Amino acid sequence: MKQYANRPGKKSIFQSGIPAVFLFGILFLSGPAQGRAAGLYLVGLGPGDPDLATVRALKLVQAADLIYTFGGDILERFADHLKGKDVRELPSDVFLRYNVRRPDPGDPEPQKKRQTFLDSVRQSVKSGENVVFIDNGDPLISGPWVWMLREFESIGIEVVPGISSVNAGLAAIGRDPTWAPHTHTVILTSDRPHGRDRLETLAALQSSMVVFTHRSKFEDIIRKLKSHYPPATPISIVLYAGYKEKQAVISGTLQDIESKVQPDSLPFENIIFVGDFISGVLPGFSM
Ligand SMILES: C[S@@+](CC[C@H](N)C(=O)[O-])C[C@H]1O[C@@H](n2cnc3c(N)ncnc32)[C@H](O)[C@@H]1O
Repeated sequence: MKQYANRPGKKSIFQSGIPAVFLFGILFLSGPAQGRAAGLYLVGLGPGDPDLATVRALKLVQAADLIYTFGGDILERFADHLKGKDVRELPSDVFLRYNVRRPDPGDPEPQKKRQTFLDSVRQSVKSGENVVFIDNGDPLISGPWVWMLREFESIGIEVVPGISSVNAGLAAIGRDPTWAPHTHTVILTSDRPHGRDRLETLAALQSSMVVFTHRSKFEDIIRKLKSHYPPATPISIVLYAGYKEKQAVISGTLQDIESKVQPDSLPFENIIFVGDFISGVLPGFSM
């Protein structure tokens, strides 16, 4: 059994004389987020600085026996919280390619690796460990986790939401995308080449739009937006939303934004907002 250190002179709750039944009630009611019960969690740690992670998320990290991550700068940003933890990197070659609709049927090697991993997670939970998957932002907004929720449905997995880069980006520009002169609708999307929801098709609605850039070409995104939004439509690009030291905003219109942006210097962490809402003109007022 794991030993937890107590502060000198302070009695542990187990030595305090509180009846065991009462204690059990507290532990049960306080729930897994208090780190008492073994379980499986998918936890969003927010878009940037650690102080944008929720209290619940940090408690779960603290209580985790085993943490899985795709790596990247989350390891540096949360270094203090992850110190001394058993942190393991997810085999991204297996998981990022995995799609619930297309789970590599013809390729036995990734399937085998994935199965070994899934079995080991189930085994850890079964043996009483807290297993926590951590991700940036909110894990269920433009995240790769849907497959996992399905895989672990039978043993139960709790999702802890995080502040998304969408929230942090909106905070950076100080605008609400549901308040625009001509729309109350927000589209969250990315530049996908196929399907009914291509950027050009969505642009025709002229709703407020948030574009997760992933690794798409900036010039392509702007060209597709311009196909339907008027050239004077405001656009803001938020770089490193939620990072106090390096957050930056580049604003303009669809007409002139390309003269203000060096596409090659954009970090992966850049998110695009488009629409009249950025102008700050309120519904009911003409622009
Ligand atoms: C795979 S999505 C993950 C989104 C994440 N689940 C969230 O809720 O923010 C990655 C894209 O989100 C955006 N993004 C993520 N973190 C960001 C940040 N801190 N600042 C700006 N954009 C960010 C970028 O467009 C990036 O290409």
